[in-house]
Amino acid sequence: MSVIRSAVTGVGSYLPEQVVTNADLAKIVDTTDEWIVERTGIRQRHKARDDEPTSDLAVEAARRALLQAGREASEVDLIVVATTTPDMTFPATASIVQRKLGCGVGIAFDVQAVCSGFVYALSVADGFVARGLAKCALVIGAEEMTRLMDWTDRTTCVLFGDGAGAFVVEPREGQGAKTDQGLLGFALRCDGAKTDLLYVDGGPATTGTVGHLRMAGNQVFRHAVVNIAEAITAAAQASGIEIADVDWFVPHQANQRIIKGVGDRLGLDENKVISTVATHANTSAASIPLAMDAAMQDGRIKTGDLVLLEAMGGGLTWGACALRL
Ligand code: UT7
Repeated sequence: MSVIRSAVTGVGSYLPEQVVTNADLAKIVDTTDEWIVERTGIRQRHKARDDEPTSDLAVEAARRALLQAGREASEVDLIVVATTTPDMTFPATASIVQRKLGCGVGIAFDVQAVCSGFVYALSVADGFVARGLAKCALVIGAEEMTRLMDWTDRTTCVLFGDGAGAFVVEPREGQGAKTDQGLLGFALRCDGAKTDLLYVDGGPATTGTVGHLRMAGNQVFRHAVVNIAEAITAAAQASGIEIADVDWFVPHQANQRIIKGVGDRLGLDENKVISTVATHANTSAASIPLAMDAAMQDGRIKTGDLVLLEAMGGGLTWGACALRL
């Protein structure tokens, strides 16, 4: 049976220039490099300049993804930006990205599912592409999480960083089989009863301020390992694949211990798990495409590989997606 699949034809990413090390943070809060590395695996994070909004990071990542796909900005007819740190309350950051890239009129909007945003956004783009509503989509995860930090709170400010990653998604004919190129299946979840475990204490309709990120870290941690593993299993099932078939796991990069905990629970070969948390820290919705691009640039992930993405974040939201490159 012939079906239209949404294929990932280009991947790109961008990290702002400034690097903030654990030692830099130890000068402003009561922490140590040893504590951060041992509890999270994070060694450094990138930080955007004051005059460098989220849309600038998104545009750079998108340009690189378009180059890899061999597409021009003028061909882009859908932009979905997953972000928790939009340039402004409105318009959507996707609209600003569309203008800065010079795409012309098309569909553009943001998706807000915090750290799970990229997986959610991919599923949204899949709907447009597979139904013939878009022929050249940009799915972007772009975040400046450092803007949401309370720099006096050592339990959160050491964890996050800024960056952006993008996929170009285009239609390809498939057979409805697991060997098809493209997005094969998803599992998406939200448990709104847990909004108080990870949130920002501000917003336009409450405080009228941007607010700061607050997290009950170890409760989120416990939720993550169990539930991410369930979503991965469900996404594999929806895709008609076995976990053992997967060539590469590209997890959300929040904490090396979560990545390992999920891997152990599912019996994953750790050599198949991509980890960039040491150098990128938690870049929320940007972390998956950033990690994916890093592993494609160094030659590990290649065309034809079966890749499993997973994420978890505020909401609490979580989810997974299987795709063949
Ligand atoms: O992307 C969204 C999803 N987010 C996540 O997945 C994050 C999930 N959570 C985590 O990654 C971990 O829970 C954290 C890294 C946030 C914390 O690690 P933990 O091993 O769960 O530590 P904890 O919160 O249980 O804190 C242990 C101790 C506490 O001190 P006391 O109360 O035992 O004296 C904290 O105050 O570590 C202390 N602590 C720190 N010490 C030095 C917390 N942060 C720091 C710090 N430096 N930066």
